[in-house]
Amino acid sequence: MRTFTLTCLALFMTLTGSPSQAASDAAVEDFDSIKLYTLKNDQGMTVKVTNYGAIITSITVPDRDGNPGDVVLGYNNVEGYINAVDKPYFGAVVGRYGNRIAEGSFTLDGETYSLAVNNGENSLHGGIIGFDKVVWTVKSADDRSIELTYVAKDMEEGYPGNLDVSVTYTVTDENQLVIDYHATTDKATPVNLTQHTYFNLQGEGEGSILDHELMLNANEFTPVDQGLIPTGKTPNVEGTPFDFTSAKPIGRDIDDDHEQLTFGGGYDHNWVLNKSGEADAPTLAARVHDPASGRVLTVSTTEPGIQFYCGNFLDGRLQGKSGKTYGHRSGFCLETQHYPDSPNQPNFPSTILRPGDTYQTQTVFGFSTK
Ligand code: BGC
Repeated sequence: MRTFTLTCLALFMTLTGSPSQAASDAAVEDFDSIKLYTLKNDQGMTVKVTNYGAIITSITVPDRDGNPGDVVLGYNNVEGYINAVDKPYFGAVVGRYGNRIAEGSFTLDGETYSLAVNNGENSLHGGIIGFDKVVWTVKSADDRSIELTYVAKDMEEGYPGNLDVSVTYTVTDENQLVIDYHATTDKATPVNLTQHTYFNLQGEGEGSILDHELMLNANEFTPVDQGLIPTGKTPNVEGTPFDFTSAKPIGRDIDDDHEQLTFGGGYDHNWVLNKSGEADAPTLAARVHDPASGRVLTVSTTEPGIQFYCGNFLDGRLQGKSGKTYGHRSGFCLETQHYPDSPNQPNFPSTILRPGDTYQTQTVFGFSTK
């Protein structure tokens, strides 16, 4: 029988303070319940998850020579996540609505809702205390899989409806991390859940990701205004720096003189994924190859969009779990999602969940080498 590894918070925490002290700026009712869980397969892949923010704190996979390396940015204590400068959402599940809602406002069934605003005049990643800053309940856990649940209250951060959310992380023997999201509500509400892990396939803290080669299975993207709110248009990427239909180094066109790159400080945009086949089966969204380590990350999803954000706001002030600083563009996120600001954009696929319906999406992060 495989050993189920559960490390108490005592190990997750370093000597930086008691849980209750650390909790001061987070809505944490039961800090003592925060634990770190380790999932592993028979191929040497390990994934560490905490029920604070449903955060993935570490993913260890082999390079082309079989050497294991931790390929995600993060901390080895819960205070790191709580106190991080600029709140980068390392490894977290974001919700109730991933990415921005313009001016923190939307109208649904004739009623206008005002959300908690936390990004200029906009609401970002669920508001001030989003799903990344709450303690989730561990419904089940073994060495392969963990299911975390959270009940977001009616009007929490301004959103209507009591929302029952479940996120399940499962590690397979094919070196995949399968993420299943599930939610139900008692009032119509927007829902857009995603995973905000920052990857560096060379290893966390090992410098820039600009040499990583990225392919995005997307012919269109959603340009934004200066506040990073979509304009509503979905132009073709052909002939622009946003064309990743064939793999190219992330850094190749990133400094081109292009208004969209200026707005995002680099890539910080949603792409419209090319879809084929069954709507409820994950399809290929992205592939990233790090020539130095040989590691390859493949992202598949049932979602219609993906936010590619390449750590433009990281600036070396954050020091990660192994003591290395996280500099500019030292990690990238591939956040599978519905498009930003969908509740205000009639032409985008709907993000409204209604009572009696079930929100169900799946994203798979697969690791290999070449
Ligand atoms: C957003 C960025 C934001 C980052 C960290 C990304 O999903 O698109 O604009 O800075 O998350 O909050």
